[in-house]
Amino acid sequence: MKLKKKLIIANWKMKLTSRQSLDLAQNIKAGFKSKESLQVVLCPSFTALCAVSQIIKNTEIKLGAQDVFYEDQGAYTGEISAQDLQEIGASYVIIGHSERRAYLNETDEIIHKKIKNALDNKLIPILCVGENFEQRQEGQTDYVILKQVKAALEGINLVNAQNLVIAYEPVWVIGSGQAVEPKQAEHVNKVIFQALIDLFPVSIVKNNVHIIYGGSVDSGNASRFLSQPAIEGVLVGGASLQPGEFLGIYNF
Ligand code: PGA
Repeated sequence: MKLKKKLIIANWKMKLTSRQSLDLAQNIKAGFKSKESLQVVLCPSFTALCAVSQIIKNTEIKLGAQDVFYEDQGAYTGEISAQDLQEIGASYVIIGHSERRAYLNETDEIIHKKIKNALDNKLIPILCVGENFEQRQEGQTDYVILKQVKAALEGINLVNAQNLVIAYEPVWVIGSGQAVEPKQAEHVNKVIFQALIDLFPVSIVKNNVHIIYGGSVDSGNASRFLSQPAIEGVLVGGASLQPGEFLGIYNF
């Protein structure tokens, strides 16, 4: 089995203008030293993708988008294709973030189509799944996660040349400053692993899929997540907006 790098993914959401994104990318690049065991991915907003792509060119830092449309091309005003993202240097794309599920009415069906299209166009999807507070209180966490993973991925034939990231993000801790206990996240990541081996060959799941955690990760708690064997990376929102804080996670 090849050595899997742990992923440190920055999700800048709609928090920065293009100018601010450039400054942040430049500052991260300035303090960045590539490591064998870690992979950094920056996900700026669409308008900053091209410029950030130029800044991180010739470094080990990868580029990701925050969304993609599910058709290849056509009369879809305002949408962005996977091919377009590929062309400007993105290799990852976040799909099904809970904010999009909640505010943009993204359904499991839409998310499934986006995952399929991203994979067909050689992008690595970062599929986000997670329970809300009520579901957690009612003991439905594993059920909700299994349902979301299955709906997004069932019928997709993940082949050897393709990679996938699943981010477990409990909706109620996102942006709260209060992460879940790493052991709880590890449990859910193991549940996700079980769901995946029902869908894909075990060797593909082990080699080509990263199961990561997101939700109030910062430089103070990152090591507790990244040291869990079943947590193969972190998706970072708020703490990725300060170069020192983000690099602190990277240097955990
Ligand atoms: P947070 O966001 O780190 O600010 O909680 C994580 C995310 O939404 O991906």
